[in-house]
Amino acid sequence: MSITSTAPGKIILFGEHSVVYNRPAIAAPIHNVQARADIQPTESGTGFIINAPDLGQRNTLADLADDNALAWIVRLTLSHLQQTPPDAMLTVSSTIPLGRGLGSGAAISAAIVQALAEFFQSPLPPLAVSDLVYEVEKLYHGTPSGIDNTVIAYCQPVYFIRNQPIERLQVNLPLTFVIADTGVVAPTHKIVGRVRERWQANPEFYEQQFDEIERIVIQAREMIEQGTDDLTTFGELMRRNQERLQMIGVSSPELERLIETANNAGALGAKLSGAGGGGNMIALATEETAEDVASALLAAGATGVIMSGIYQMI
Ligand code: PMV
Repeated sequence: MSITSTAPGKIILFGEHSVVYNRPAIAAPIHNVQARADIQPTESGTGFIINAPDLGQRNTLADLADDNALAWIVRLTLSHLQQTPPDAMLTVSSTIPLGRGLGSGAAISAAIVQALAEFFQSPLPPLAVSDLVYEVEKLYHGTPSGIDNTVIAYCQPVYFIRNQPIERLQVNLPLTFVIADTGVVAPTHKIVGRVRERWQANPEFYEQQFDEIERIVIQAREMIEQGTDDLTTFGELMRRNQERLQMIGVSSPELERLIETANNAGALGAKLSGAGGGGNMIALATEETAEDVASALLAAGATGVIMSGIYQMI
């Protein structure tokens, strides 16, 4: 029996970086882009083949070392399911841009875990999927907060605090985001590592910024859950979060240019999303302004634009 499983991309609405230091953050899945894992049984004796055409990889599992992320998640999942590698081919593909803060790695891992679990007819709850994906995130990011694997495995907007049970968010605001790519690849572990060095050198300043971001996140959560017509204030929270992200040194000229462009084109607020240093920014628009904001961002050099509504996705 052939199996197909998909997992969405994600954006962080508020609280990236400070979430690594035990402050809360808000993230939501983005369904317009997704990772996909297909498992097709093969003839007996072929072994388990991992086929990732976009990455130019096609190998049997037995030939892959443990530091190969695809092999690692397959091995972890098989061990969790107490299964040995079947004669089958796993094909992995993704429309989520790689290394741009949209959760491509976590989504690919989540799609693989879910597909394998279904293949062996033992579907896993989101927490188990999230925990397995987290192991691979560690391989790449060193000290990930766990927000990417959580929001992607649960496939719901979340209010997330490291090492605490997940809180699902009921979204009562008509949130329409335009997500624009700077085209700059900025590895998360490097940006997170640089913040850590600066935090170690000047903990008081960094803790102050994280505290202020925490206040912004808590206010944003209230607005999301209670609902309001006042999207301007919500946009202002994004602007204030971005200000603090600048102060901790994770913005970039490309991000700043796109953020300014979005604001001038009618966005209610804009900020970087994810680790920063490049990657994507998000702009809060309305259904009426989204097209104009997207066109302005493309004209200003964005290499890709995604429009996504996040509204009562529970
Ligand atoms: O994977 P990214 O680029 O979306 O970054 C994750 C967000 C950080 O807060 C910067 C890191 C983390 O582990 O939470």
